[in-house]
Amino acid sequence: MDQYCVFGNPIKQSRSPFIHLLFAQETKQVINYAIQFAEIDGFTEAVVEFIDQGGKGANVTAPFKEQAMAMCDELTEHAKFSGAVNTLTFKNGKIYGDTTDGIGLVNDLLTNGVSLENSRILLLGAGGASKGVVLPLLNQKPKSLTIANRTVSKAKAIVEQYTNQPLSACSFEEANEQVFDVIINATSAGLTGNGVPISEKLITTNSVCYDMTYGKELTPFLQKAQNLKAKKVIDGVGMLVGQAAESFYIWRGVRPSVESVIAQLKSTIA
Ligand code: ATR
Repeated sequence: MDQYCVFGNPIKQSRSPFIHLLFAQETKQVINYAIQFAEIDGFTEAVVEFIDQGGKGANVTAPFKEQAMAMCDELTEHAKFSGAVNTLTFKNGKIYGDTTDGIGLVNDLLTNGVSLENSRILLLGAGGASKGVVLPLLNQKPKSLTIANRTVSKAKAIVEQYTNQPLSACSFEEANEQVFDVIINATSAGLTGNGVPISEKLITTNSVCYDMTYGKELTPFLQKAQNLKAKKVIDGVGMLVGQAAESFYIWRGVRPSVESVIAQLKSTIA
């Protein structure tokens, strides 16, 4: 049986085995998919060991996405721009790296009926999560994509990677003075419970608010959006399943459908 896994530290919380085993059932692929803990300084060795045992591919989550990129023999354009890899494929003695988070996000927005073409998008945060979605968002031809971050220099550094794109960087204060159609939270601020420092006037009844994270309860950002009667309030469950679907497609050449898996995952989280 072909072996796949997800590397992370911590990793026990990962939903990836649940998702991939449902994909395998649906597409009638015979695979095994397990969680794989790696010591903070032991990621490379853990991957090599997995390859030696016949592993065919792996997902990579925090904090190893940059190290995963460094291990690859070949990278896709997406992976190069994001500076991180979440999907490794082991084939012909080589390691191939790709990143599927951005496609997962874009597909989930489109599935939710959000039009990205010609829209004004605000991306909150300039860490790894944010970097990974910029190119797929730009590929949707938005009118503008603005990256706001507490440390503005980090948002500017992302913008400098691209040329001839409607892309800009600013502080949260500057973002608060502008108008956006779609606001995406890619900061880790929600996880600590404080939420992102954006003003209430940024969210109107025309706003689409998306949080890349998810939990049992709405994130503080989405709670705020719901209180302000935003048009759409969407959490990151669909993105999680969507990125997994793209990894599965890379490995198996079959694209699983995501709807029923999203529904099943939501019911286990609730
Ligand atoms: P990830 O891989 O999840 O993106 P990261 O690379 O550590 O994690 O990035 C975390 C992001 O959340 C950064 O944009 C960070 O802002 P800074 O670059 O200024 O550090 C942002 N962030 C974390 N806590 C925050 C908070 N309390 N308020 C605003 N932004 C926050």
